Amino acid sequence: MEFDFANLAAKDRYKLLVGFIIPRPIAFVTTVGLDGMANAAPFSFFNVFGEDPATVVLGIQMRPDGTMKDTTRNILDTGEYVINMVDEAIAEQMNVCAVDFPSGHSELDEAGLTLEPSRAVKPGRIAQSPVSFECRHMHSITFRPDRSLIIGEVVWMRARDDVIDPQTFRLRPEAYHPVGRLYGNMYARQSERFEMVRQTFAEWKKAPVA
Ligand SMILES: Cc1cc2nc3c(=O)[nH]c(=O)nc-3n(C[C@H](O)[C@H](O)[C@H](O)COP(=O)(O)O)c2cc1C
Repeated sequence: MEFDFANLAAKDRYKLLVGFIIPRPIAFVTTVGLDGMANAAPFSFFNVFGEDPATVVLGIQMRPDGTMKDTTRNILDTGEYVINMVDEAIAEQMNVCAVDFPSGHSELDEAGLTLEPSRAVKPGRIAQSPVSFECRHMHSITFRPDRSLIIGEVVWMRARDDVIDPQTFRLRPEAYHPVGRLYGNMYARQSERFEMVRQTFAEWKKAPVA
């Protein structure tokens, strides 16, 4: 099967892209509005794109009525946000925070999650999240009126003590169980990992790994 994206409806491109580019990590983003109101919402058009500067990107759509989601508005207004990683323990609470509650409702209260103060930015981080990245907005790109890429720099990281080895900076896989977004309402656990050694050309010439 072949697909010419120029001749596909956007909703069909969406199905093909999110169906096959999987799993995607979930950024559970906390922000604070100019009115001081805290906000939390998940985004799976998300990834890391570099370490110097430490670059993370979110892809955020407008609401169907053409207005900005609270997350976008707050990031553009304040320049600060926190990306909280989602593990199995808080996956359902994350899903509650995607409900389009009317303004005045606190998603975090509805989900039974709590904020603790961040160290480098004003928005709080989710206390129940295993890892939080405090970010400053660097740049936004709007290709079309309804879609923005929000590019940020991570300025501070907080990790629960059990998920990281402080000597090596490596994660402890037995303690860190992030959830990945698949498509529709489907998610993935990391139930199995495997190792592949990357060779130099000299090593490969001597003893190529099949
Ligand atoms: C797992 C998951 C991933 C999502 N990913 C995105 C995304 O990448 N971009 C987006 O615009 N909305 C995404 N959404 C929808 C937003 O979370 C939803 O519109 C939310 O209500 C926005 O809240 P806000 O107005 O408080 O920012 C996702 C929802 C879920 C449950």
